[in-house]
Formats: sequence, C-alpha cells, structure tokens
Amino acid sequence: MLEKIKTLIAEVELFSAKNLDELEEFRIRFLSKKGEVTQLFSEFRNVIPEQKKEFGQLLNDLKTKTQDRVNKLKEDLKNNEQSSSDLDLSLTADSQQQGSRHPITLVRNEIIDIFTRLGFTVSEGPEIEDDWHVFSALNFPPEHPARDMQDTFFIEKDPDILLRTHTSSVQVRVMEGQKPPIRTISPGRVFRNEAISARSHCIFHQIEGLYIDKDVSFADLKQTLLYFAKEFYGKDSKIRLRPSYFPFTEPSAEMDVSCSLCGGKGCNVCKYTGWLEVLGCGMIDPNVLESSGIDSSVYSGFAFGMGIERTTMLKHGIKDIRLFFKNDVRFFEQFQ
Ligand code: PHE
Repeated sequence: MLEKIKTLIAEVELFSAKNLDELEEFRIRFLSKKGEVTQLFSEFRNVIPEQKKEFGQLLNDLKTKTQDRVNKLKEDLKNNEQSSSDLDLSLTADSQQQGSRHPITLVRNEIIDIFTRLGFTVSEGPEIEDDWHVFSALNFPPEHPARDMQDTFFIEKDPDILLRTHTSSVQVRVMEGQKPPIRTISPGRVFRNEAISARSHCIFHQIEGLYIDKDVSFADLKQTLLYFAKEFYGKDSKIRLRPSYFPFTEPSAEMDVSCSLCGGKGCNVCKYTGWLEVLGCGMIDPNVLESSGIDSSVYSGFAFGMGIERTTMLKHGIKDIRLFFKNDVRFFEQFQ
C-alpha cells in the first residue's frame, strides 16, 4: 500500500498535460469522489496501526502534490493559450497617453525660475486671510472699494475674515517675520468677486515680488523687470512704464512689454498697439514698511505683481481665461 502511494506521487510529479481536457482527465482520476486519493483515504482504517502514521503522511503528501500540480498546469496552459493564440507581433503598439503639466503651473515655474536666478526666494501664505494682511497693512483706506462685498469674498464680518484678493498679503507676512534685506516672490491663488467671462474669473493666480534693502531705487525696479521681460517674453523685448496708482506703492506704475506675438507691429492680441499690459509695480509706500515694523528712514523697496493666467494668455495668444478651468485635454495637450 505504501509503495502504491509512492508510485502515485512519482507519477503526479512527472505528469504534464497537453491541453485542458487532458488535465481534467487527470484531475478526475486522482481527486474526484471515486478518484485514487479519495479511495486511499477510505482504506486508512484497514491499515495496520504501526503503518498508520507513515501512511497518513504519504497520503496527505500525495493529495497536496496532486492539487498543486493541477493548479500549476492549469495556470501554464492558460498563459500559453494567451501568448500563442491572438498575438500578432506585427501590429503597431497602442499609443500611450502622455500627461502634461497644467499651463498655469508651467508658466508659474518659468517665472519662479527667472526670479530665483536673481536671488529671490519663494514665499507662500494662507488663502483665507484677515483684513489686516490683505488691506490695512497695505495702506488701503477704510472706504476703499476693494473692501466692498462686491469685490471681495468675505467669510466672516467683525473681525473680517476673507479670501485674499492678491498675494500681497504674503508679502506683509514676510515683512512682519523677516528683517531686510528681503528678496522674495509669492505665487498663489487669489479670489475676487467678479463675473466669469472670457477676460476675468473669480479665481486666478498671481505672482508678486518684493525687494527691500538699503538704497533700493526705481532704477533697480526697472532693471529687474526688464531682465524678467527679456527672459520671459524674448530677448528683443522692450518695456515701458506708465504712471498708475496702488495704495501700497508710491510712485506706482503699470508695465507694458512690446508684443511678443507680432514683435510690436500690431496684432489682435495687442489690439494693434504693439504693447501688452503685463504687471503692476512701484516703490513700497513708507507707510507699508512702517506698518510691518520696518524703518522707512533706513530701508526702501519695490514690489510688483502679475496675474499668471493673464501672463499665460499674452504669451500664448489665448483668448479665453475659462479654458484654464475647463479641463479639456485637447487644450492642455498643447502645453507639453
Ligand atoms: N497687488 C496688486 C494687484 O493685485 C499688484 C501689485 C503688486 C501692484 C505690487 C503693485 C505692486 O493688482
């Protein structure tokens, strides 16, 4: 009896099947209700006591080896079937969809890269802010229209908690927490209570820059921005500064860059003026420095800020800001 089991184990170990039918035959012969293994189990009670232990062990061995063999052969046959049947090696491979970064991220990184080369660090701050960091510390008078519900999303009144309308709030936090010299840019999301159209959105992104040290002048501001314009819009770019007004800078200016799409000749992106309006800037108002605890008789500085959506639209001639938020792959695919 013991010999019989050993012979069967050897047979199982050597068995191979050409197809699933043969394998099924083998399984029935060994493992079915009337199969070899089941029959041997029923003979267990007739085995003499001294052999019961060895018999039991060998029989269990036969059972597991048979089951393992069946499973392994089944797997092999299935794999073979898959690889040999419908496989046509001459077919071209399916095209792989390649992901790309969002154009806003790409342009943000490009701008960060340019200013990092000039020694600027990157600062970030909260999107939910208080009145102080968004308005008061930046010299906004109490009745300034930006403080109106029409322009700003308020979360709570008295004390005012709101969604930041610009990332200048981050600059206030930097001025409060660091001593000059300060050279930093703050990229981030901002929120304004505006109707959504092709030209404006209630959520968009900004990058604002801040430079504070002794003897910082308007010439430093102009040179920094010219460097940025040449790096970002192309080395032949020209800039011009037009007088403007912001509560936190004095003097203030708007910067235009020569249209990179038509080279200044005039096209429908620059509305045939040859110039694109790209950012706001100015020398930091001494009141702003003082509010953040910086001595304005020792230090001076400049600041600038630009919308990333607008910057991206101008650089790539995109006509509708809503495209950035629609998540249409056909649009994103163009920015690999
Ligand atoms: N904070 C201004 C805005 O949101 C931009 C700006 C920043 C202007 C710094 C001047 C100086 O429009």
